[in-house]
Amino acid sequence: MADQNFLNEVSKRRTFAIISHPDAGKTTITEKLLLLGQLIQTAGSVKGRKGDKHATSDWMAMEKQRGISITSSVMQFPYKDCTVNLLDTPGHEDFSEDTYRTLTAVDSVLMIIDGAKGVEDRTIKLMEVCRLRDTPILTFINKMDRDIRDPIDLLDEVEAVLKIVAAPITWPIGMSHFFKGVYNLYTDTIHVFVRGRGHTLMDDIRIEGLQSDAAKELLGDDWDAYVDEIELVRGASHEFNLEAYLAGKLTPVFFGTALSNFGVREMLDGFVEWAPSPIDRETNGRTVPAVEEKFSGFIFKIQANMDPKHRDRIAFMRVCSGTYSRGMKMRHCRIGKDIKVTDAVSFTAGDREGVEEAFSGDIIGLHNHGTIQIGDTFTEGEDLKFTGIPHFAPELFRRVRLKDPMKMKALQKGLQQLSEEGSTQLFMPQRNNELIVGAVGQLQYEVVAYRLKDEYKVECIYEAVNVNTARWVECDDPKKFDEFKNKCRDNLAIDGGGHLTYLAPTRVNLMMAEEKWPQVRFRSTREH
Ligand code: G4P
Repeated sequence: MADQNFLNEVSKRRTFAIISHPDAGKTTITEKLLLLGQLIQTAGSVKGRKGDKHATSDWMAMEKQRGISITSSVMQFPYKDCTVNLLDTPGHEDFSEDTYRTLTAVDSVLMIIDGAKGVEDRTIKLMEVCRLRDTPILTFINKMDRDIRDPIDLLDEVEAVLKIVAAPITWPIGMSHFFKGVYNLYTDTIHVFVRGRGHTLMDDIRIEGLQSDAAKELLGDDWDAYVDEIELVRGASHEFNLEAYLAGKLTPVFFGTALSNFGVREMLDGFVEWAPSPIDRETNGRTVPAVEEKFSGFIFKIQANMDPKHRDRIAFMRVCSGTYSRGMKMRHCRIGKDIKVTDAVSFTAGDREGVEEAFSGDIIGLHNHGTIQIGDTFTEGEDLKFTGIPHFAPELFRRVRLKDPMKMKALQKGLQQLSEEGSTQLFMPQRNNELIVGAVGQLQYEVVAYRLKDEYKVECIYEAVNVNTARWVECDDPKKFDEFKNKCRDNLAIDGGGHLTYLAPTRVNLMMAEEKWPQVRFRSTREH
């Protein structure tokens, strides 16, 4: 029997990420969640607006210049009886790979939709990733203080485009200048909107009952029409169903305005009540229950130099079972070594701190001196490997050339480390000494050049290279594989993780190689 205290800790955990299209309000809502979690006292500190206090999701100068969130961070805060772990995901579409991997480390997501724009491209893509694992999704429709689209249309769009049943929990009363609050369809409560108080925590002003005199007073001449609207909404929309939500088939929907910090609390209340506690995770051998007392976890992200004060790399680990306690021994399964971990860190908004204890569902950071890679599994001794943490074949390729040829070592080290982090992928062809960098999006190149200069003091130039696509190759027949390796040497490279890769100059070349070598598997994704 597992210890009751441990079981309580696990059942309190809610580990999630926010998915949205850039500008829908992810940063703003993150800020309000931290305010509700009492991690920060005033909003405005997360995004480092106008160069003031800067916060966790904003480490890099470049990120500030561009106003996008390139790196992702982890924030833990208490709310009601729960311990909430929010994993920030990079907002720019170029960073999809990092985002996808972050989504493997959460148990549910919050989807933010800009009420004026509806369902946008990036949300559609991220939703596809969530669907791979049937991740439960809670929806917040934002910017009710603006002219938004008809809420019924918005729900129809969510259902039609994202192919998920939408169940409104709250319903807006008016919009834009006439926005008066939200009505909870289940508790028959109106939460009254008070304009312009988004920077601090504010009281929840409630009116109980749509039929009450206070409600009639608030709505004035619009009361009758609103009562009819609610009847229509109740008739036409789906009812909330916990099981369907947990199966990823239904999304409860809340309305509000993140900027004014309104409707966010109701959403968070629903979230802690319904969102799943840590889910069981698959490995190559068996399913690991989140409530198992033996410790296990996997690495989903590596980040260098998050804070210029600590010039090191941090490997982000999702704890999947058991308890981490300071000084414990863990087995690094890929290399088959036991290591003693005394200095793992936890993340709160703004600072990293040493962590004494962490439970299933939590994210801890391990100091990485080059031995940890994305996808690595750590246990209390059992040899396991968590599955489902993919690496995607890049779509863009550039050769890297140094401005100062004397700095080859530093360049190699930098590229190797950045590829271990998953910021980019590195390929070293077998026929020459070139270094080829593969990326999923163009912006990654700029980030890599910036970081090489900033952190490794090397300046590089990118050049075009005749590679169209890459495939990781495997073969069960060693003899055939040797023959393949000999014949195709000119196309083969070793990637940053030491895996053999086929670099194809054209799609046709790849097709021909696949036809010619039926025993060889050409994979467009690789498990870490
Ligand atoms: P993101 O992280 O998803 O990219 O979005 P972010 O929170 O940065 O919000 C994008 C813009 O939308 C910001 O304005 C933000 O203030 C605004 N916004 C967010 N929530 C609401 C809301 O509920 N109502 C209204 N009216 N606006 C909202 P900005 O002008 O781009 O930035 P800033 O000058 O405010 O920093």
